[in-house]
Parts: sequence; C-alpha cells; structure tokens
Amino acid sequence: MSGPIGRDDLERLLRAAREGIARAYAPYSGFPVGAAVLTVAGEVFAGCNVENAAYPLGLCAEAAALGAMVSAVGQRRLRAALVLIARPARAWPCGGCRQRLQEFMEADGMVYAAGLDLEPAGVPFAQLLPLAFGGHDLVLPTT
Ligand code: THU
Repeated sequence: MSGPIGRDDLERLLRAAREGIARAYAPYSGFPVGAAVLTVAGEVFAGCNVENAAYPLGLCAEAAALGAMVSAVGQRRLRAALVLIARPARAWPCGGCRQRLQEFMEADGMVYAAGLDLEPAGVPFAQLLPLAFGGHDLVLPTT
C-alpha cells in the first residue's frame, strides 16, 4: 500500500486536523497548527501544537498526534500524516517532527501539507527525510 491516499481518507485527515487546529494552544507564536495521522489500519488521530511560557518546552502538532495514536491504540504504522496551518499557505513538518514521523512511517508513506482554502499537497516521506536515521541503525551488525 503506497502512493497518494484516497480522497475519503484525505478528507478524514483534513477534518481531524481542523479539529486539532481549533484547539491549538499557541499564544506565544500566534501560529496554530493542526496535525492528523492515518494508520495502516485506517484509524485517524489528531493533534495540535501546545506551547509553553518556557518556549523550548512547546510541543508540535505532529508530536501531539503521534502521542494520541500511541496512547489510544499502542504503536501503529502510519499510512499518511497531514499538517494544517491557519494561513493560505502550506508548511511542511519541522525537522524534529520528520524524525518523529520516521519512527512510525515507511519511506513510501505520504505526508501532506495543507493551508486555508488550499488543496493539500503530498509527498512521499522519503522526500522529506532521505537517508533517515532509525531503529534499523541501532541493530548491532552480525559479523
Ligand atoms: N509547529 C508545529 O506544530 N509543527 C511543525 O512542524 C512546525 C512548527 C509549531 C511549533 C510552534 O508552536 C509554532 O508552530 C511556531 O513554530
């Protein structure tokens, strides 16, 4: 299962990300973000950014969505993820969140960026984080 997801699933991700962004806590940046992930089993989980007065402690929306997924159903493989911003523009996941997604996503999983009144654009995960570091690197080589 690879390549772009179907229109229905994309709509489900968008709806979840809109619910997420409505709950975003972004008083410091004024940049609310909603994220949603679609598991290979077809489940959808949403998240939003959660900032903190101690700025570096803020949580990205993607991290919150992954936390919601693992908290609800345990570990799942991701089929797709979507990031929504509240502007007529698209933003792709930050570097840290690319690594977070890597934990649960294959190279051919899809990542979508969406903005206000903009059709989501999608790319395979490998395009966002080529040569990714992952659990496979921690396996000791057998000689
Ligand atoms: N942010 C996300 O939620 N996801 C990203 O991939 C990039 C940035 C949030 C963090 C912070 O609350 C705000 O956007 C501005 O950086």
